[in-house]
Amino acid sequence: MKGVLLAGGTGSRLFPLTRITNKHLLPIYDRPMIQWSIETLVTAGITELMLVTGGTHAGEFLRLLGNGHEFGIDRLSYGYQEKPGGIAEALGLAERFCDGEPVLVMLADNVVERSVRPMVEAFGADPHGARILLTKVTELEHLAHLGVPELDDGGRVVHIFEKPKDPPSNYGVTGIYCYDASVFDVIKTLEPSGRGELEITDVNNHYVTQGLMAYDVLEGFWGDAGESIDAYYAVNDFVRAHGANKA
Ligand code: G1P
Repeated sequence: MKGVLLAGGTGSRLFPLTRITNKHLLPIYDRPMIQWSIETLVTAGITELMLVTGGTHAGEFLRLLGNGHEFGIDRLSYGYQEKPGGIAEALGLAERFCDGEPVLVMLADNVVERSVRPMVEAFGADPHGARILLTKVTELEHLAHLGVPELDDGGRVVHIFEKPKDPPSNYGVTGIYCYDASVFDVIKTLEPSGRGELEITDVNNHYVTQGLMAYDVLEGFWGDAGESIDAYYAVNDFVRAHGANKA
């Protein structure tokens, strides 16, 4: 399976810190944020990676990561997103890199306590459609900043609502997704959302509609360090005290 790390965007929720650098280069405990997501993929056995970024600080990633060998990456490719057109648009840049193989996609501001290897192995055993990773979230205020699935009585995903005012469940959709190669055809059919972006939630709802969406529920801590300055510090505090990507 290939890996795609999405590290673009303007990071506006962390202004003014992100006026002078890319969000994913800000520190989380003792290293730049991007290194935690690289570790997530490498420890799950994915060592062919493409990093997609944009903006004016893209060159800094090359300076930090080089050819990636130091971080356990066998082959590291880079993609450049011309303007912040959304997560799904950024993923679209990885079509040639994936070359027909299934892919694990990760938003590089997401940090997990526990390894995502179980999800990768489950999708690897049956790499059709999509598989997402959910996390239990009880605060309504937090759910309103995430993708939230509606589940039926059998636990199947019926629809995913992006940043719902009235969340239909107590699960958030993390920024960690597995897709088969059809994802690139799905992205080509998308229309920009109200915020002018191609939404990953629209990609996911395509697979829900087709009956090709599976999910796992993550154990342990999950955080999106780009969600707000408070979330950024909560992730810092957690990682400093407990580490991340543990088996
Ligand atoms: C994105 C997704 C959202 C998901 C979140 C996880 O939101 O659109 O569905 O729950 O990442 O980090 P964004 O951070 O772009 O607002």
